Amino acid sequence: MNLILKVWRQKNAADPGRFVTYQARDINEHMSFLEMLDVVNEDLIARGEDPIAFDSDCREGICGTCGFMINGIAHGPQRATTVCQLHMRHFKDGDELVLEPWRAAAFPVIKDLVVDRSAFDRIIQAGGYISVNTGSAPEANTIPVPKEHAERALDAAACIGCGACVAACPNASAMLFTAAKVAHLNLLPQGQPERFRRVRNMVAQHDAEGFGHCTNHGECEAVCPKQISLNFIALLNRELLRSALRG
Ligand code: FES
Repeated sequence: MNLILKVWRQKNAADPGRFVTYQARDINEHMSFLEMLDVVNEDLIARGEDPIAFDSDCREGICGTCGFMINGIAHGPQRATTVCQLHMRHFKDGDELVLEPWRAAAFPVIKDLVVDRSAFDRIIQAGGYISVNTGSAPEANTIPVPKEHAERALDAAACIGCGACVAACPNASAMLFTAAKVAHLNLLPQGQPERFRRVRNMVAQHDAEGFGHCTNHGECEAVCPKQISLNFIALLNRELLRSALRG
């Protein structure tokens, strides 16, 4: 199939950027979206032009490195799918696709479709860890964890930190990300020592990074490739209230 791509090209953070139109020719429907961009880039390199910059690592939907907007939707039109796992069979010959980086003040563009997501790292550094001395691996049943808590913690831990939630949110809020990271530790016994400090510090860092507030649009949940539930934001709010009541 042949496609028309309108790609955001931006040399660096200071460059105003612009859309440039490219032809993607002879694209196999079994290719992933990133493999299609690899083909376009090989062509650009062969012509001595600068290839389109985009992030990727695992290309298996597990690392959270990839991500950009395709026709205004974070990670593209396929639900619960990262852009590296999105296959070209979901598009038609002749389709026109607009590719843009995540748009958020806290995610400055580095180049083309690549944004700086180190704000997420700083939110994790503010509390997304446990500091108990775990020593060697304990016997699995030493610390009983209620089944419901274990399952909810695992659901929250599925967050790969790609940033799609921020890109989709009209407020550029990172509350779904922050809530998932708070929840997966606060729900488990190992996360209890820092439980209240964690939620206070991570939310404070979220705000300091310039992310907006959650006003329950739900766009984040709709585009999340790991289908992290909006309910985790409710859990975060309850944890924040509990931590405030403790003084
Ligand atoms: S490259 Fe790892 S999730 Fe897409």
